[in-house]
Amino acid sequence: MNEMDQERSATADVMAQALEEAHKREMGTMPSQAPKPENPIRMSVEHLDLYYGDHQALKDVSIDIRDREITSFIGPSGCGKSTLLRCLNRMNDMVKDCRIEGKITLDGDDIYQDYNVTRLRQQVGMVFQRPNPFPMSIFDNVAYGPRGLGIKNHAELEEIVEESLTGAGLWDEVKDKLKQSGLGLSGGQQQRLCIARAIAVKPQVLLMDEPTSALDPISTVMVEQLAMELKKDYTLVVVTHNMQQASRISDSVAFFLLGELVEHAPTEELFSAPKDSRTSDYLTGRFG
Ligand SMILES: Nc1ncnc2c1ncn2[C@@H]1O[C@H](COP(=O)(O)OP(=O)(O)OP(=O)(O)O)[C@@H](O)[C@H]1O
Ligand SMILES: [Mg+2]
Repeated sequence: MNEMDQERSATADVMAQALEEAHKREMGTMPSQAPKPENPIRMSVEHLDLYYGDHQALKDVSIDIRDREITSFIGPSGCGKSTLLRCLNRMNDMVKDCRIEGKITLDGDDIYQDYNVTRLRQQVGMVFQRPNPFPMSIFDNVAYGPRGLGIKNHAELEEIVEESLTGAGLWDEVKDKLKQSGLGLSGGQQQRLCIARAIAVKPQVLLMDEPTSALDPISTVMVEQLAMELKKDYTLVVVTHNMQQASRISDSVAFFLLGELVEHAPTEELFSAPKDSRTSDYLTGRFG
């Protein structure tokens, strides 16, 4: 056999073996590859009930949010996605007649019991649907949080601003106009500015409520790529109505319906083999 024939034969052997193994797996005679080890739990929601007055918006919701992963919340309008997201940094505290029962922990500590809310909001940052820079310069937008934490030294603030804008993928676009108003940026740039503002205080968790729904397709891709970059350092929870987005960026997806968490599973599993018929009905567009 010449060299080329040998190579071909070796390739054929490898192919035959791979096919055989795939077949065995299909037939259930061989264990499939071990699932990737799970990251530790960063936040945990346990038996959460939430009421706006008489209306129960969340019903016995329990979910674990894992460290350095992107967890997406999906489900039809009004199913409670934003409500649950806001519970994770106690934004619902400000809503009149809003009452919760159950428990939410961050690194094991109950955030509703003896927890400093200012500290919580530093640890669990939020990015909203509509980019909402403060009416001040780009620099001041990003320096706002660190200043609030007592950092006054200008050189230190400069360093944080550069680091945060770089982390948000915006530095090169704005480094020569840091004194200009944040409101003068494009929508996509404003959203990345808001992400820079959120990460400037070094949170552990970043909540994003439909962060790209007000953005054009190119800015959407940029924010999605950024989210995947950010999960190396942060834990992300993203609400989205965009199923492609959920499947592109998430490690796991939670499907909600009428205030209930129907199913939470690794992304591929939830989309390709949902366990609950309500999930498949939603995914195939039968309602929602
Ligand atoms: N501040 C509030 N006061 C009273 N009811 C509210 C309040 N916010 C939300 N709700 C109600 O709670 C339920 C869940 O709302 P939520 O905003 O969490 O849904 P959602 O899944 O985020 O929907 P969407 O996809 O439209 O953003 C809805 O019935 C909504 O009307
Ligand atoms: Mg919402």
